[in-house]
Amino acid sequence: YFFWDEVAWLTFNWLQVKEASYTRLCSTKNMLTVNGQFPGPTIYAKKGETIIVDVYNRGKENVTIHWHGVTMPRYPWTDGPEYITQCPIQPGSKFTQKIILSTEEGTLWWHAHSDWTRATVHGAIIIYPKNGTKYPFHKPNAEVPIILGEWWKRDVNEVRDEGLATGADPNSSDALLINGQPGDLYPCSKSGTFKLTVDHGKTYLLRIINAALHEALFFAIAKHKMTVVGTDGSYTKPLTRDYITIFPGQTFDVLLEANQRPDHYYMAAITYSVAPKYQDFYDNTTTTAIVQYRGYYTPSSPPSLPDLPAYNDTDASVQVMAGLRSLADAEHPCDVPLSTNTNLFYTVSMNSYPCVNNSCGGANGTRFSSSINNISFDFPTIDILEAYYYNISGVYGNNFPSFPPLVFDFTYDYLPLVYQLPSTGTEVRVLEYNSTVEIVLQDTAVLAETHHPMHLHGYSFYVVGWGFGNFDENRDPLRYNLVDPPFQNTISVPSKGWVAIRFEASNPGVWFLHCHVERHLTWGMETAFIVKNGKHPEAQMLPPPSDMPPC
Ligand code: C2O
Ligand code: CU
Repeated sequence: YFFWDEVAWLTFNWLQVKEASYTRLCSTKNMLTVNGQFPGPTIYAKKGETIIVDVYNRGKENVTIHWHGVTMPRYPWTDGPEYITQCPIQPGSKFTQKIILSTEEGTLWWHAHSDWTRATVHGAIIIYPKNGTKYPFHKPNAEVPIILGEWWKRDVNEVRDEGLATGADPNSSDALLINGQPGDLYPCSKSGTFKLTVDHGKTYLLRIINAALHEALFFAIAKHKMTVVGTDGSYTKPLTRDYITIFPGQTFDVLLEANQRPDHYYMAAITYSVAPKYQDFYDNTTTTAIVQYRGYYTPSSPPSLPDLPAYNDTDASVQVMAGLRSLADAEHPCDVPLSTNTNLFYTVSMNSYPCVNNSCGGANGTRFSSSINNISFDFPTIDILEAYYYNISGVYGNNFPSFPPLVFDFTYDYLPLVYQLPSTGTEVRVLEYNSTVEIVLQDTAVLAETHHPMHLHGYSFYVVGWGFGNFDENRDPLRYNLVDPPFQNTISVPSKGWVAIRFEASNPGVWFLHCHVERHLTWGMETAFIVKNGKHPEAQMLPPPSDMPPC
């Protein structure tokens, strides 16, 4: 016997990457979109389904597509990060990708994973409960994706290349976006502002995604509270807040009760940014959308704006993270490893390379870089997954250090300049199948401290602890939450702080670990894990598809 809802559900779908022309902030540009939509189309699925998507590249540049937060059991082949699990899909060609859902339920998203193309090539993935199961909260009256993004008047990859050419921080965006629109507070934007029409007394599930390239965001709705019920495709205990902080790559499912006086209200997002010592490039604009009650009334004009924390309020930035707990009940058990046999300590740092006559555009005439354990990652030209699978040597090294090469007071304000210089390499860390892994990610004040939303492919992990200052291996583990830690795929290492994550390495493959602040990724804040096969055939990677894009 079998039950229909346990059989992987197959849906056919396609995504076509192509150029389209869009007007925002009174100017028009050509940019890559999917199916001519911005944000791109939403993919709907049920828990446990496998979706097959034909990805066509009808643009002029190479592209790849990644399913952010989908763990892709045993099948890294169509995970998407360029030169990690595949070579790019070239203009004019097609790659048939599988999205293999397993434990994920809630909101995830998809995005391009080559250059900065994901600024315009992204969309939501909504995963409903299986037939016969329900949300762990009252069924909302409606559901609404809220996709937060960034807009440049110029081509984003030009902005990137210009930054790389001068060594400087690339120009910050010209606008923040809610569902592709800057909102009323920007020129030429009023008519496009996103509106959510609500009925008094009803409840709305907002599926909020931070698809911005760089900016962490404070988000709130005037006069309304939000109740977080999920993050990164996993449910949480309800957490009611006036605002949330959402870091690049993260998703939050929040319930909005339309329980205020019928009126128009702004929802708004602003950047959270630790003003670094050497510059303060961040987008300091405010994006808005409107929550509009149905009915007859005279709306206040203009609608009221929500109270948001000050842009550099680091204490405010950790308030949601501090309250997040997974459900940890019978239907949503928490499987956090109670002990670990593989303990890694990774520092994440901003760095710089000296330039002749201090002629570069970065801090004090240097060129910006960034690193993990002082290694700034160099992308190979053949993807690591194929190099591993086919034993092609010389593509990567497997000596990524478990510990930083130098131990010092990582969060000290006056670190000597010599710490700023990273080494470069294409190093990965090999993990035994089923090893229990703890990674402590430690921000440093080398060059400049800031938050780093670290994202792991192939896994969600339990966030068992975090704090400010240097991680203390004797004291801090005593305070770990091993009962109901949140289960996430992207966790922000607080500025001058640390986080500890745990997972069991039960998904063989090659899995990328990187900062989701796009310029930090461009500068080298990434590495990968190779998780070995287990003994049992069911603990081994599946064979590659026949249409892997050629290198
Ligand atoms: Cu959302 Cu490696 O990405
Ligand atoms: Cu970063």
